[in-house]
Amino acid sequence: SAADKGTYPFYMLKEIDEQPAVMRKLVQEYFDSDDQPQISEKLLQAMAESDHIYIIGAGTSYHAGLIGARMFEKLCGVPTTVHISSEFAYEQPLLSQKPFFLFLSQSGETADSREVLVHVNEHNWPSLTITNVDKSTLSREATFTLLLYAGPEIAVASTKAYTAQIAVEAILAKALGEYLSRDAAQNFDLKHQLGTIANGMQSITDSKEDIEALASRYLSKPRNAFYIGRGIDWSVSLEAALKLKEISYVQAEGFASGELKHGTIALIENQTPVIAIITQDRTAGLTRSNLEETQSRGAAVLTIVSRHLAHEDDNIIIPDVDELLTPLLSVVPAQLLAYYTSLGKGLDVDKPRNLAKSVTVQ
Ligand code: G6P
Repeated sequence: SAADKGTYPFYMLKEIDEQPAVMRKLVQEYFDSDDQPQISEKLLQAMAESDHIYIIGAGTSYHAGLIGARMFEKLCGVPTTVHISSEFAYEQPLLSQKPFFLFLSQSGETADSREVLVHVNEHNWPSLTITNVDKSTLSREATFTLLLYAGPEIAVASTKAYTAQIAVEAILAKALGEYLSRDAAQNFDLKHQLGTIANGMQSITDSKEDIEALASRYLSKPRNAFYIGRGIDWSVSLEAALKLKEISYVQAEGFASGELKHGTIALIENQTPVIAIITQDRTAGLTRSNLEETQSRGAAVLTIVSRHLAHEDDNIIIPDVDELLTPLLSVVPAQLLAYYTSLGKGLDVDKPRNLAKSVTVQ
């Protein structure tokens, strides 16, 4: 069955490997034969009437929201902000006139997120839950629901749900942008891109041994590590660092690379691992110089780089895709680095200490 580990030692590895199939499944579920995304007109209308999208989520879902916000702004021209549910529930920002709430939750049961939804419903604001679990609490209580079609995710560390969330946000942003007649959305060849991404994910998971070797060389001993990047690469750095800390207990931080010099670079010691994610034309050179600044202070540097930006000595090269979609590929090596670091330490990859898959307390 879908929830069976099969020959895999841990669910996490199985779920990482399932990501290409999830991308293909999403293409099947959400696109018609004319390559147009299929999203209900009622949902698009409710979103089109709003003047601001508020994305709400916790943990990995919050990180997926950081990527989605860029899509709604770039493809739809709708101001979008992302909020940690446990913060929003108790310190709500001043809202726009016509807010629309987008809840991201793999389980659909996270109490912190539900707390926000209860409040949203008291005001009759329109909402959407994007979730992996049909009929979950958050999907029943929101105005609209979209499914992730990722299949059961068992490992505590979320992998395929993160990439499915980003893909569904992209599908929704394309549909809404087209509904609003935005050129950027009309020119976004998302269906084709998702096919390329499925193949790209496959090629990355096919090179597991190389990534395992990097994990053992760079991450098996140090107590702390950094992922760095700018813009969308920074957002992926946050998720990459979360993977590493939650299952391998390396104290990892995802950091805006330009901000390092304003304090945090003081933490770089001899052999501190610094992993740069470099996928954006506009910031590649800047991130590289920030990485060099850490290297000259002794850091052991590693790179995850889009092919067209790659240099000879880069470590992990990922296929080229549209700049809004690079997180779907750049996160995969980071998931594998975390997996192999945890595995190498003999830890229980699927059930890290102190963590639960779904947190139903506030
Ligand atoms: C828990 C899990 C995380 C997850 C977060 C949000 O903390 O350990 O992996 O990202 O909850 O869960 P949700 O189901 O709302 O996406």
